[in-house]
Amino acid sequence: MASYLLRREHILLDLGYSVIRDKEGSAKVQTKQKKVLPYVEFGISTSMGCKLPLYNWLAPILLSLVNFVALSSAQAQAQLTTQSSAQLSGQIQGPIPAAIQSVQVLHWWKSASEHKAIDVLAGRLAQENIVWHDAIIPGGSGIGAGIVLKSRILAGNAPEIAQLNGVMISQWANLGLLLEFDTVASSGKWDKLFFPTVWELIQPRGHLVAAPLGIHRINTLFYNKKIFSKYNLAPPETWDEFESAAELLQKKGIVPLAQSSEPWQIATLFETLLLSESDATFYRAAFVTKESRAFNDLRFFRALQRLRFLKKFMQLPVQEQSWIEVTHLLASGDAGMLVMGDWAKGELNAWGVPTDVGFACVAVPNTANYHLYDVDTLVMLAKDNASRASQEKVAQLAVSPLLQAEYNQIKGSISVLRNPDLSKMDSCSRSSWKMFSRGSAVQVPSLAHRMATDEISKDAIIAEIVRFFMDDTISVADTQHRLAAISHSLPKRKAGNDAQNTYR
Ligand code: GAL
Repeated sequence: MASYLLRREHILLDLGYSVIRDKEGSAKVQTKQKKVLPYVEFGISTSMGCKLPLYNWLAPILLSLVNFVALSSAQAQAQLTTQSSAQLSGQIQGPIPAAIQSVQVLHWWKSASEHKAIDVLAGRLAQENIVWHDAIIPGGSGIGAGIVLKSRILAGNAPEIAQLNGVMISQWANLGLLLEFDTVASSGKWDKLFFPTVWELIQPRGHLVAAPLGIHRINTLFYNKKIFSKYNLAPPETWDEFESAAELLQKKGIVPLAQSSEPWQIATLFETLLLSESDATFYRAAFVTKESRAFNDLRFFRALQRLRFLKKFMQLPVQEQSWIEVTHLLASGDAGMLVMGDWAKGELNAWGVPTDVGFACVAVPNTANYHLYDVDTLVMLAKDNASRASQEKVAQLAVSPLLQAEYNQIKGSISVLRNPDLSKMDSCSRSSWKMFSRGSAVQVPSLAHRMATDEISKDAIIAEIVRFFMDDTISVADTQHRLAAISHSLPKRKAGNDAQNTYR
């Protein structure tokens, strides 16, 4: 059986507890008296080799306690929630009363801000008598989640809903695995609501198959505001400025650039550098249409060179750290700068580090006129009609203006709606929104976050970039030749068959 966790927090909230999480994403329950108790989730064992977080010896005791209180307080809702959770795990048999529906959602959001953001949606669903059960497969950028989702589908054990981003949406839709819910779109006039890029992304074959949540900007350079003020440094707009700031920070004993060796994090940095050394058209030639000439081009050469050059400003050897850990280096002032998607902003805020006080963000040098984007989406798995109403409700609620504003404020992303409430956005989000709303000419799909190409091509390209980054004996030219050679055998799609593959 694949791994999943069943969320209990709505029961706890009903009973007057609140859920708090530390910066690693571990959740705890706080009573009104401010007593901190371990969080009461329970895990289902896994044959996939995935770790089950939050599983400790206190959980069963607390679980029994909470169930007892929930049942005896005669809170019908809490009782039913308990039943449906247990039923999903196969522990309790018996009918679920018709009024209460439950959906299991497979995703990789485990950090403090990610949890808080989806809690907004789960909370709204609870008001509609729909219980949200987390199936969390931790792992930045969703590497593990994709694998578990595939296995569960093959085993005939698909969740109702899954986080599935980018090109994978069209691939899965082509296989007939996704629920089409066009009536939700037509009744909600979705075609008028969203940015065209988002609209095309979620209806790859002319049928709606995904609900969009938010848009992240990848080409974001975060800097520690206190350190920059202390040393009288201006946020770098050019690589020369970056270099002089980095050299000064290094002299002061501060790591200039926080970086992890996790492949997706190296790829996140590299794709930004490629954009910085070229433009949207060239970037697409490399990562969307995968033309071999692009990999042999001088602009690709320069991007690789810059990637290697930047290593001298990182803590060596570069460690395999989660994005939460590298973001923490920035927050603590151990590192001065960080290139990361703006989910890092959500996380910093969730730790109580406000935008423009503890940190601020600018575009990575030479990318200010682009928005390297990543759209978070939920797909509904085509199962049986019994779940359709709840699945459609999730989609409807996900795009409501209030939810969009609240969710994206917490998550660090921007709304997928064309006319969001700008007053709710901080300076980073406002500049992200302004850039994205300029249209497709400035929008560049992220390779690392699955917006540019299929999974096989993405992994093959990233593997070469990572080899190059980790091993200084591999030359730039060798890496270019290898990528150009590989590109001949990568799957190619017809231009224009989805949002990512269209030159617009
Ligand atoms: C991205 C995803 C973000 C965030 C990030 C780190 O792929 O779109 O929402 O979760 O990974 O895991």
